Amino acid sequence: MHPFVKDREDFDRLGARTVEMLGDYLRGLPAQPVDRVVPDEIRRRLMSLPMPEAGLSPEEILEFLRREIMPWPVPIGHKRSYGWVNSPPAPIAILADAVSTTMNSGLDGYDHSALFLMSSLGRWIMELVGFPSEGSLCLLLTGGSAATLNALTAARHRTAGRAGWNLRTEGLQGGRARLVAYTSAESHSSIQKCVEQLGIGTDNLREIEVDDAFRLRPDALRRAIEADRAAGCLPFAIVACGGATNTGAIDPLDAVADIAREFGVWLHVDGAFGAWAALDPAYADRFRGIARADSVTLNPHKWPQVPVDCGALLTRHPEIHRAAYSLTPDYLVAGHSEVPWPCEHMFQLTYGNRALKTWAALARLGRSGLAELVTRCNRLADLLDARVRSEPDFELLAPASLSVVNFRYRPAAGRLDAAALDELNACISDAVSASGEAHLPTSRVRDRVSLRACFLHYENDEGDVDHLVRLVSRLGASLAGVVSVA
Ligand SMILES: Cc1ncc(COP(=O)(O)O)c(C=O)c1O
Repeated sequence: MHPFVKDREDFDRLGARTVEMLGDYLRGLPAQPVDRVVPDEIRRRLMSLPMPEAGLSPEEILEFLRREIMPWPVPIGHKRSYGWVNSPPAPIAILADAVSTTMNSGLDGYDHSALFLMSSLGRWIMELVGFPSEGSLCLLLTGGSAATLNALTAARHRTAGRAGWNLRTEGLQGGRARLVAYTSAESHSSIQKCVEQLGIGTDNLREIEVDDAFRLRPDALRRAIEADRAAGCLPFAIVACGGATNTGAIDPLDAVADIAREFGVWLHVDGAFGAWAALDPAYADRFRGIARADSVTLNPHKWPQVPVDCGALLTRHPEIHRAAYSLTPDYLVAGHSEVPWPCEHMFQLTYGNRALKTWAALARLGRSGLAELVTRCNRLADLLDARVRSEPDFELLAPASLSVVNFRYRPAAGRLDAAALDELNACISDAVSASGEAHLPTSRVRDRVSLRACFLHYENDEGDVDHLVRLVSRLGASLAGVVSVA
């Protein structure tokens, strides 16, 4: 009997064992050190495994995963992991993902159930953030980077087409005018990667200066576009921050949308992290401009707690994406469905079904559950901001925006210069990891090393803020002497 036939027959028993392991993992996580270093012996073993000649048994495979892999995750599932912009997986979404992989129905096309579900799910996501759903399309891609790449491909296609340039046949080698994109100096590194990948080149990505609150300055944007137009360039896209990764800054979306409309430039909002905060009454106004964007990046694998990976692209112009991407050879059936086939609007053909896990997480939370989660995380950042301001040995480097706070330990009594303060805070971040009590990586704000905390876990509460302040205070006090003597 083929081993896979055997496993199929034995699926319930193997599945029960797997689910038991996963349950132990999820329930055990809070008691585990937040940041765990893979021991040298395990590293070496994992890097030098020989390919078995005869297949292993399913029990050996599960035991290997339990013993050698599961104890050493990226520190993102624990509620005291404050690094980057990462959330834990919603348990029901983990299970829904197993349904997707079992059915193995990619989301590329063909009339199957998940593709029809996608119509409702896309509408849900658009409505949650105030993006007009009528005539729009939602694609679930690998993440924010892929979503922005897709949007900028369509934006580039539109601008080139307006200039009488067929990008698909001519490519970028026809000696045409320069295509230029605009974004804030605070935007995510993925924007630069997209511009590089699209052959635009970073020389043609204008980094627009920001104000004191790290928001793109519309006057500077306008000047840059005018100068480029006067020089014969083709401005093709503005990428506005709908929640910058580092500081949570939200660009003035309405003012930027006015400029985009005036100059006929595609407005893309990178709301990968932040646009979900349209659900927080304290931030809703600042996200209203999303309704005027041509496209938006929004990551379900951030606030909605969808297991990695999933990045949504929302676009008002499905037909432009189709014009930029669609290619249907004889051996593929063209989509004549009631619903658009994603593969005709994107680079990939076969791709994973991210709809079920995303639907499951959102369906389980409901609109009010997601709004409560987002709002609670933002209030926790406000609370941390207030605590930092009130602690004599702490300094706020960027005020709370969304669920992000940048601060540092700065002993009031000490006389540490800028370099020593940077070093001290880098040491504190390492000590936080080594303590196992939290994960708090550093970033930089105005060229100073910051401790950057981002709240995104469904279980975060005020006790976490208190714990974090005490932890940094304790470690900072014990390390300050060492750094100042050195
Ligand atoms: C604002 C923003 N944009 C884009 C990205 C990139 O998204 P991804 O890592 O899913 O490609 C991130 C990731 O943290 C982000 O915070």
